[in-house]
Amino acid sequence: MRLVANPAGWRAHWALALVAIIPAPQSVVETAGSVELHDGFVIEAGGGHDSQQVAAQFAARLAAHPGLAASVRATSRHPRSAGVRVRFELRASSNVPTEGYRLVVARDGVTLEAADVAGLRHGAVSLWQLAAAGSKQETSGAAVVHLPTVRIEDAPEFRWRGLMLDSARHYQSPEFIERYLDWMAMHKLNVLHWHLTDDQAWRLEIKRYPRLTQVGAWRVPAGRAAQRDPDPATGRPRLHGGFYTQDTVRRLVRYAADRGITIVPEIEMPGHATAAVAAHPELGLGAVAPGAVPADWGIYPNLFNVEESTFAFLENVLREVMGLFPGTYVHVGGDEAVKDQWRASPRVQARMRELGLRDEAALQGWFVQRIGRFLESNGRRLVGWDEILEGGIATGATVMSWRGVDGARTAAQAGHDAVLAAWPLLYFDNRQGNAVSEPPGRGRVVTLRDVYEFDTRVSGLSDEQHRHLIGVQGNVWTEHVRTEERVAWMTWPRAAAVAELGWTAPARRDYDDFHARLAPAMRWYRALGLRAATTAFEV
Ligand code: ACM
Repeated sequence: MRLVANPAGWRAHWALALVAIIPAPQSVVETAGSVELHDGFVIEAGGGHDSQQVAAQFAARLAAHPGLAASVRATSRHPRSAGVRVRFELRASSNVPTEGYRLVVARDGVTLEAADVAGLRHGAVSLWQLAAAGSKQETSGAAVVHLPTVRIEDAPEFRWRGLMLDSARHYQSPEFIERYLDWMAMHKLNVLHWHLTDDQAWRLEIKRYPRLTQVGAWRVPAGRAAQRDPDPATGRPRLHGGFYTQDTVRRLVRYAADRGITIVPEIEMPGHATAAVAAHPELGLGAVAPGAVPADWGIYPNLFNVEESTFAFLENVLREVMGLFPGTYVHVGGDEAVKDQWRASPRVQARMRELGLRDEAALQGWFVQRIGRFLESNGRRLVGWDEILEGGIATGATVMSWRGVDGARTAAQAGHDAVLAAWPLLYFDNRQGNAVSEPPGRGRVVTLRDVYEFDTRVSGLSDEQHRHLIGVQGNVWTEHVRTEERVAWMTWPRAAAVAELGWTAPARRDYDDFHARLAPAMRWYRALGLRAATTAFEV
């Protein structure tokens, strides 16, 4: 176990063993002792509606696991004298950093303080993890929780702590996505980057263009599976897929927000556009048969064309997207757009010359900049994969660095924000072990330790440039991850390592210590119905 320095200047080598919180808090000071919470205890919530909502959510989690009942009421001036007083205090004037919290468990009471609702949520998650680790059954059968007496001061290292979920290559149900959001919240992950469109599907209902989902959300399964599953009515392979209605999306966005998570939608352009072009051939360059959404993996050459009518389409789509997703960021992809079709098209070439652009990379730069201006004029900010650095980057764009961290370095040096989402270590479609029992995935093995030891410090940056690194993200691509059960397995517990990369300062990160804290977490995963990979615990 690692030694833990604390502000009081003494060291408690057992601290993190007892205080099994993931991600590790920035400062933990333990005093020998514990307090008990019993069924029926009261949480006093001060600071208005938000505080009561967080307290009620905490009570619901405690009731679900470890099964302790609590009720919530507004902070009382005249507390009952008996029992441990539990208070949640949301006060903008408290000297706690953004998204941070102070949690004091002392003999006479438990006090959780924060200056913003996100911080109060995070503190409640920490308290819940302490309760989950300290639950006991009394001989009477009643539940009781033992909390170690402790003072925790905590705040995140990065403000973007994300997971990307690819719902295009394989569709996941809204019910699964709700559970996924719950699991994220329990790790203080706060961004779900939702990959909604790709060559193989368009999953988001757009009212103005119903064909996007009528056509784009359905395809035959990949490879030989298509032949194994004919539709008895037609004898042809059965179509698989699905899409998210706007009502469902609004519900998920609200569900996420209630848990402190922002959903960042991704609408891919100018490449990874085959499903859109199959639905609307007028958007493409003639190479996609109408209705032919492909089922095979790999990079397709199908790009959007650069007609004014196509920009009108994209802006109309993005208007509906902005109506559904209230967060600041909209991700527009930008990756892997091979330029063969643009090179071969006389109309595209003529437009390129008209615009005075040197080559197709510059044309993509112009394309993405134009979309960036549109988003900006609507008060939003563009995010794109690191290819958006090529051919001229849009003003104010945030770069998601996937081809290593070079994109993040270049972006930060140029004064742009960047998120670290680097292949292969942060690509959770890679398998996490070599055992035959490990489910299918890409060829590489990326272990829990590999993820944990990903270096979030990018070399060659001044302190000021380093501040442009706003976060870290694990990407769950689903070409080879067909079922929800496998999505859960491929994501967890590697996402717990990402949570710690995003939350905990590098100097406080230690794999062995993390692994020790993960053992109790694996118990609450099971209790929450999360079937995480056990690979890291196998010999
Ligand atoms: C990517 O993996 N094409 C972002």
